[in-house]
Formats: sequence, C-alpha cells, structure tokens
Amino acid sequence: MQKLKKFFIRTYGCQMNELDSELMVGLLEKRGLTKTDTEKDADLIIYNTCSVRDLAERKVMGKLGILSRKKKKALIGIAGCMVSLKKERLLEKFGHVDFLIGTNNVHEINDILDQLLKTKEKRAHISEKSPLDIDYLSAKRASSLKAYVSIMRGCNNYCTYCVVPFARGREISRQSFQIIDETKYLVDKGYKEIMLLGQNVNSYGKGSNTSFADLLGKLDNINGLERIRFLTSNPHDMTKDIMYAMRDLPSVCEFLHFPFQSGSDRILKKMNRKYTKDEYLQKAASLKEIVPNIKLGTDIIVGFPTESENDYQDTVEVFTKVGFSLAFIFSYSPRKNTVAYRFEDDIPLDTKQERLHKLLDLYDKMLTKEKTKMIGSTYEVLVEENNKDGRLKGKTRGWDKVIFDGDQSTVGSIQKVKMINYKPQTLIGKIEN
Ligand code: 5AD
Ligand code: SF4
Repeated sequence: MQKLKKFFIRTYGCQMNELDSELMVGLLEKRGLTKTDTEKDADLIIYNTCSVRDLAERKVMGKLGILSRKKKKALIGIAGCMVSLKKERLLEKFGHVDFLIGTNNVHEINDILDQLLKTKEKRAHISEKSPLDIDYLSAKRASSLKAYVSIMRGCNNYCTYCVVPFARGREISRQSFQIIDETKYLVDKGYKEIMLLGQNVNSYGKGSNTSFADLLGKLDNINGLERIRFLTSNPHDMTKDIMYAMRDLPSVCEFLHFPFQSGSDRILKKMNRKYTKDEYLQKAASLKEIVPNIKLGTDIIVGFPTESENDYQDTVEVFTKVGFSLAFIFSYSPRKNTVAYRFEDDIPLDTKQERLHKLLDLYDKMLTKEKTKMIGSTYEVLVEENNKDGRLKGKTRGWDKVIFDGDQSTVGSIQKVKMINYKPQTLIGKIEN
C-alpha cells in the first residue's frame, strides 16, 4: 500500500467546516501524516468545500481546474457541503479527483483512505444521516486557547434560500454529557474559551430534557472555563430563558449573532423565517434590556426575489434601529434544491450591488460610531496571540477585536485593556496595570 506522508487541506465556508477540517487534520496526524501549507509538497490534498453561495463553489471549481492542468502526483479529495449536494457528479466532472467525503463522513477519513489505497477505486462516501458519535477529541484545534464545540449537526429550518438542510442533513443534537465531557477535556488542556456550534443552537435539545439554556448552565459550572460563546441563533427560537442565561451565567459572553436577513415582513415570509420585523425588533429590544452591554451581530441578504425598494428600506430600518457591531451582508444567490430556486431571480445584478454597497457603507459608519464610543473605557480582553506588527491581539467579551502593546507572557490570560483609539477597522488599546 502506498504510504502517504504529507497532506494539504484548505477550508472554505463556516465554522462547522473549520471544525470538520480540524477533525480531519487530527485524524490524519494520528495516522502519521504531516500537515503542509503548500499544495505542491503534498501527496494528499483535501478541499473542504462550502455551497452557501455560488461564489463559494466557483472558488473551489477554479482550484480543481488548475490542479487538473498540473501534473498530478497527489491524491485529491473533496469534502464538505459541495460533496453532499453534487455527489458523484463531482467525480464525473473532475476526473483527477480520487475521493469524495460528505459532511457526515469526515470522521471516516482514515478508513476511506485505506480503502482507496487498497482498491484504487474512486468513490463517494456520503451518508444522509448526521452521526452522533463523532470523536471530536481527535480534532487538532487551530488555537490552543479557543475551541469549537459542536452541539448539534444539520438543520430543520428550511429557510427558502439556504442549502444547509440539504448539505448537512436533518437537525440532531448531541447529548449534553458528551458536550460537557469534551469541554472539561478542553479546559484541562488549558482552553479558556469555547464556541458552541450549531445551525440553530437555540433549538438545542428539542425533545430531550436539556434545553439550550440548561446546557449553558451546565457548561458554566465547569471550573476554569472563562468564556462561552455560541453560533448561530435563529430569532424565532430565541427565548427569555436564553436571555436570562446570558445575563446570569458569568462565563457566557455578551455577544449574540442574531441574523435578521431581511426587515420586510413580506420577504421574511417568502424566506420562511417564521418571525416578523416587529417580533425581531421586540426580541432585540428585550435582549438589550435583559443583558447589560450586549452586542449584536447579524447576517443580511439583499436582492432576494421580488425585493422592492420599500422592502429594502425595511431592512435598512432594522439595521439602523438595532445597531450591530458585526454584520455579514450578502447579495442573494440562487441555490439548487432550495425552495427559492423556483422563484425568479428577478432583482438585477446592479440593483443587488447598489443595495449591498449602501448597507456596507452604513455598516462602516455604524462601526466607527460604535467603536469610538468605547474609547476611554476599560474592558476585559482575552489575550489571544501576537499580531503581525509585533503587538498583541485579543477580544472583549462583546467580540470587539483589540490590538495593544504588551508582554508575550500575557497570551492566554484575561487583561484589563483601556481603549485608546479607533482607526478604521482596528480598535487600539492599552493594558491597564
Ligand atoms: N444567498 C445569499 N446569502 C445566503 N446565505 C445563505 N444562503 C444564501 C443565499 N442563497 C447567507 C445567510 C446566512 C449566511 C450564512 O449566508 O445570510 O445567514
Ligand atoms: Fe457553507 Fe453552509 Fe456548508 Fe457552512 S454549512 S460550509 S456556510 S454551505
């Protein structure tokens, strides 16, 4: 059997994909392979792909096209959402690809390689059902301070624009004891912060006796765990219990990614988001009232089919009224399989671009205002690592990235940092003695 020595892996898409890649890296290193950062040195190349928008897919297609023109010596595998959606067609289209791993099969990477090396048979390994017994302890985390912890896989929401339910399967929650054991293991290894991952964490544990708020309570009890964050929340499933947990549990950070997608009731209905503009605004207001100093993040889609200027103005209104310290703004991209794919993609590209850029400009102004307000005050910052310019960088509990001068020995600790300046995109601070 051919012996593999070096592998290269590139990850596209969201945090779930990053965690899946960390798992593959850990498993491949256990097998004795070494990770390399250059494709040409590798005898195994894996692309962990994303299908959320057309652009994400085109990037990978471009990469695969380039590889096919080079003289091939490495084994090439494609993993992730594109595989779950396009399946064997990828093998037909890219003759130089050796294997496919669906999102529910990443933990089988070594068995898949064994089979491939033995039989030389090109195959797709794609399970429809989300596995519950993945050994995340094998994951090789990118950081030694912060770790992603998956609490559920898949999604049942079926927002009409979104491929995730088709790419990642039905929603399944992991059992709370597995999540707690994994977190304890990480804390014992020195991790300070965990980011709980799920497509809709607020609906964690449906049908069991542990709700998401209960899970937060149990995790908060773990000694030595400084910070808990989570991603992502569907406003429809946000309850007062979760808001109280955010207020009362010391390790749960005061930042919430709370995507509203659109401010128009008509568009929200067409998106199957299951809340109205007013319901969203009310929940955002409750969050601000209940959780002191909370900061909110959002995702927004502009140019969804039939979006009128009035609909767009509703989005602008919610965006300005609520105020966000983090926003990801996208132009609508039709995706096969989804319900919205059947709607006519009728908003002209230049209108989509114009709406996108106006919101981005607004966001820039909003950020400058928001971050400038922080100047003069002191915040708890987890010192994460060296910045490129030799200074240190870290984050506040509210997810503000800060750069400051300081001693290398403070990396991994929580420091009081006074904000002293905001240059566009960067908050500058100073450690308080
Ligand atoms: N077109 C544009 N943006 C999309 N998103 C998901 N699907 C699409 C699509 N078809 C955005 C949503 C989601 C984020 C991860 O990506 O805003 O919250
Ligand atoms: Fe991309 Fe969505 Fe898959 Fe994440 S779950 S990798 S965002 S398609």
